[in-house]
Amino acid sequence: MDIATVILAAGKGTRMRSNQPKVLHELGGLPLYYHSLSTSQKIQPSKTYFVTDNENEAILKSLKSFEFRPEIVVQGQQLGTGHAVKCALDKMDGFDGLVLILYGDTPFVKQGTLDRLISSITDKKPICFLGFNSQSPGNYGRMVLDENDSIARIIEYKDLQPREENISLCNSGIVCGRASIINNLVAKLDTQNASGEYYLTDIAELARSEDFNCTVTICDEEETIGVNTQEDLANAEKIFQTGKRKEMMENGVTLQSPETTYFSLDTIIHNNVFIEPNIYFGPGVNISSGVRIRSYSYLENCTIGANSVIGPFARIRENTNIGENCKIGNFVEIKKTQIKSGTKISHLSYVGDADIGENTNIGAGTIFCNYDGISKHKSTVGDNSFIGSNTILISPVNIGDDTMTAAGSVINQEIPDGTLGISRVKQKNIVGYTKSRSNKK
Ligand code: UD1
Ligand code: CA
Repeated sequence: MDIATVILAAGKGTRMRSNQPKVLHELGGLPLYYHSLSTSQKIQPSKTYFVTDNENEAILKSLKSFEFRPEIVVQGQQLGTGHAVKCALDKMDGFDGLVLILYGDTPFVKQGTLDRLISSITDKKPICFLGFNSQSPGNYGRMVLDENDSIARIIEYKDLQPREENISLCNSGIVCGRASIINNLVAKLDTQNASGEYYLTDIAELARSEDFNCTVTICDEEETIGVNTQEDLANAEKIFQTGKRKEMMENGVTLQSPETTYFSLDTIIHNNVFIEPNIYFGPGVNISSGVRIRSYSYLENCTIGANSVIGPFARIRENTNIGENCKIGNFVEIKKTQIKSGTKISHLSYVGDADIGENTNIGAGTIFCNYDGISKHKSTVGDNSFIGSNTILISPVNIGDDTMTAAGSVINQEIPDGTLGISRVKQKNIVGYTKSRSNKK
């Protein structure tokens, strides 16, 4: 059966006490909402809807930067989860498949759990909530089951009677069901509750009065952790990193100091990679087998070819592809640059907007001056070349194969293949100068 997913993400998340919408806060290097959105794409829905409020320009911009482009549903006023789902269903135009509802602030739900939830739906049991058992149920809604283990009703935290507080079966918020039935039920919701909101959870009780069964699928409590405060976010980051480190080590990556290695959700590292302590992987990093990342390096949006060595203290920035057997040493910053195999940039360099060939050596202190204060310009360096220490390359400039630059040169003209470029003031020696100087004392 066709599945449509709905990500609920409207509202400011005031408890974050931040100017940024809650779901744009970063977790594992990517926006919070991206976690449940990307997991939901693994079940291959035919359509995805993203519920947000109307002033969230920043969210719209962020959504455009990713490969999944959900249909945006604007919920003008946040009248509750039931209302949010109704806004999405109103856009679905008679869709009669399954609808899977997820939250933008609940990042850890697993694909396997969603598969189980979906496969529990039958004609007789057309709606299923994802629940979990908790020792400390806090602010979660609680589920009351009937004698057949179907949900009799879900009681929101604010509406709990004292005797109901020790119910340990909680509502994760995630729910799946037949779109036509949910559509019919959300139309009947009211706001007669402690929050004065349309509670999606009330569809459980409404379903019973129409002779449907709402069931519950159980998952681990950790999968349902929601982020409401900065402290929750920090805690979620810790859980995310712990999980990612474990996954990396299981895949044959050596982490010398796992607790000091930070990954992003999309970090790809092949086996036989050795990672020294204190490394940060921002989004979009792909590292091939046999690489060593030395301490205190920061990488984002880059690929590193097999058997290369990066760092210590290297910064590899966006749109950089480094080939095999390269060496990028300490205090080297590289941005928007393609580097072919066997090339070395061992010390103290800035390389921006460049193409560099294979087996080339970029000497200590080389700077690519890519920015003239208005525009960025690109330079190229060919294969088997030797850029002398402290060379200044004023972009745009093309340097051929088998070339050299003399140390300390300022290069602003092409250097053809097989040529040495030298541009510096000729040295003059003044014989006896130091002696005459000391005689004057
Ligand atoms: C909700 C559930 C509760 C469950 C808990 C799990 C309801 C009524 N309650 O409570 O049973 O235990 O989640 O975390 O469903 N949202 C909108 N529009 C709205 C209101 C909310 O898009 O008008 C979105 C929020 O962005 C958020 C999600 O829905 O991602 C949940 O809303 P929230 O207000 O945090 O619900 P809880 O009170 O936590
Ligand atoms: Ca919540």
